[in-house]
Amino acid sequence: MTRRLPTATHPLTALVTGASSGIGAELATALAARGCDVVLVARRRDRLEALARRLSGLGVRAHALPCDLTDEAARRDLPHVVADLGLEVSILCNGAGVGFAGEFVTVPDEHRTAVLRLNVEATVDLCGHFVPAMVRRRSGAVLTVCSMLSFVPMPRMATYAATKAALLSFTEALHDELRPHGVAVTALCPGTVPTEFMELAGLGPAIGRMPAWALDDARQVAERGLDALARNRRVVVPSALYRTSVASARLLPRAALFGLLRRGSPFPARWPGASGVQARETAALSAP
Ligand SMILES: NC(=O)c1ccc[n+]([C@@H]2O[C@H](COP(=O)([O-])OP(=O)(O)OC[C@H]3O[C@@H](n4cnc5c(N)ncnc54)[C@H](OP(=O)(O)O)[C@@H]3O)[C@@H](O)[C@H]2O)c1
Repeated sequence: MTRRLPTATHPLTALVTGASSGIGAELATALAARGCDVVLVARRRDRLEALARRLSGLGVRAHALPCDLTDEAARRDLPHVVADLGLEVSILCNGAGVGFAGEFVTVPDEHRTAVLRLNVEATVDLCGHFVPAMVRRRSGAVLTVCSMLSFVPMPRMATYAATKAALLSFTEALHDELRPHGVAVTALCPGTVPTEFMELAGLGPAIGRMPAWALDDARQVAERGLDALARNRRVVVPSALYRTSVASARLLPRAALFGLLRRGSPFPARWPGASGVQARETAALSAP
């Protein structure tokens, strides 16, 4: 890590949300490989503990802290649990996120609310819990996983895209506010990454039809995000393909953009249903 990340003599601690799978698990792995102690947060305890065991093998301390981040009281407890472990969070990676594809009226209320609570409320709240201490120490770093959809309003994924646009706006503003305080803040905006997110979102079949070159690799996304954070880049779109897509989408007049999206949307018109979500909820609840 370069000068932009904390330089304390004791090992740095990174708290990573969404560490039980996908990009979050890769962020935690990459941070541990770079010598950080890691605190792993998500709901599925068994996944977190298995990753913690694996990362301990790299010679760092890795702690599994199961937490439902949509639960405000559980979020409020997190900093105390971390402090009780004798840890000080120097790097916060906001990786946890969900989204559901389908026209707005086909997605059940409770799922739309979960998207808002997890993607926006929990991320802003966790920054509120951990950033003030970074400012006091005049060192720290925050990486928030946004999306290519942070740049584009997306019919059939309207709520998710809106949450990611909000996160990008929040992250860019924090980047500017915290720069004078020695705290790095970066928005990581991946394209399409084949993770469990896609199945849960109802996008499994769409991903299956995409050529391999159009898919981002979760490990590479994580590495590029951390490299950008180390340089305190405001925003990073980790692949050239999606950098071009974002630039084109920003240049196109909205009417033309929506015309293209109407004709070629990869997203289903109806949300395909709750089976994947229920399977994960069950896994999260039944984890010992
Ligand atoms: N995959 C993509 O194409 C893509 C593209 C752009 C951006 N992103 C973003 O990347 C981030 C990571 O997604 P991913 O693709 O790696 O998907 P993923 O493998 O499904 O990871 C999502 C993570 O969020 C956690 N999570 C879900 N609900 C939670 C809750 N209530 N409390 C705590 N943790 C919760 C999940 O763990 P538990 O279920 O164990 O709680 C999991 O660790 C998300 O913010 C997503 O929006 C993904």
